[in-house]
Amino acid sequence: MDANTKRHLLLTGMMGSGKSTVGPGVAKALKWDFYDLDAEIERTAGKSVAEIFSQEGEGYFRRLEYECLESLLGSPRPSVISLGGGTLLDERSRAKVRDHWVVWLDLAPEELWRRVQKTQRPLAQKDFEAFRALYAARRPVYRETQTFYLRCDHLDPDQIVHRILPLVQEGAS
Ligand code: S3P
Repeated sequence: MDANTKRHLLLTGMMGSGKSTVGPGVAKALKWDFYDLDAEIERTAGKSVAEIFSQEGEGYFRRLEYECLESLLGSPRPSVISLGGGTLLDERSRAKVRDHWVVWLDLAPEELWRRVQKTQRPLAQKDFEAFRALYAARRPVYRETQTFYLRCDHLDPDQIVHRILPLVQEGAS
C-alpha cells in the first residue's frame, strides 16, 4: 500500500517516549481523531493497565491490546493512535499496521527511564539495567515496523508535532 492510500498515523516507541503527549497535537493539526490505545484498553476493561497486569496478567492485557488496536484500525475516519510501547511485539499487530504510517519516537534509554520513574508502568518497576535490556530487545521491532524515525532527545512536544506533520501532508498531496 503506498503513502496515498494510508489512513491512520500510529505513534510507537518505548514507554516515556512521548506518544500520548504528542498524539493529540498531531491529531489537532490534521483535524483527525485521536485515540490512546492504553486508554481504550482501560475503558474496555473498566480498570487501569496496572490493575489488568496485576489481576489478569500480561497475556490477558496483550489480547485486549490486540483487539482494541484491530477495532481502532477499522475506523473509516483517519486517526492518530498512540500505541503502547509493547503493542508491536505481537506479529499480528505488526502485520495490521503495515497499511498505515508508523512513527517511531526514539530517545536515549537513560532519558526514557528518567521519565517513567514514579509511574505505575508494570514493565518499568525493576532497575535501569532491566529497562535498558527491554529497550535493546525492542529496537529491532520498532525499526522493522516504522515508516518514519524521529530522534526526540532535544525536541519539545511542539517541535515533534511539526516534524511529523509533513510526513502525512506530503503523502496525502
Ligand atoms: C507497555 C507500555 C505501556 C502499556 C503497558 C505495557 C510496554 O504503554 O501499554 O504498561 O510493554 O512497553 P506506554 O508505552 O504508553 O507507557
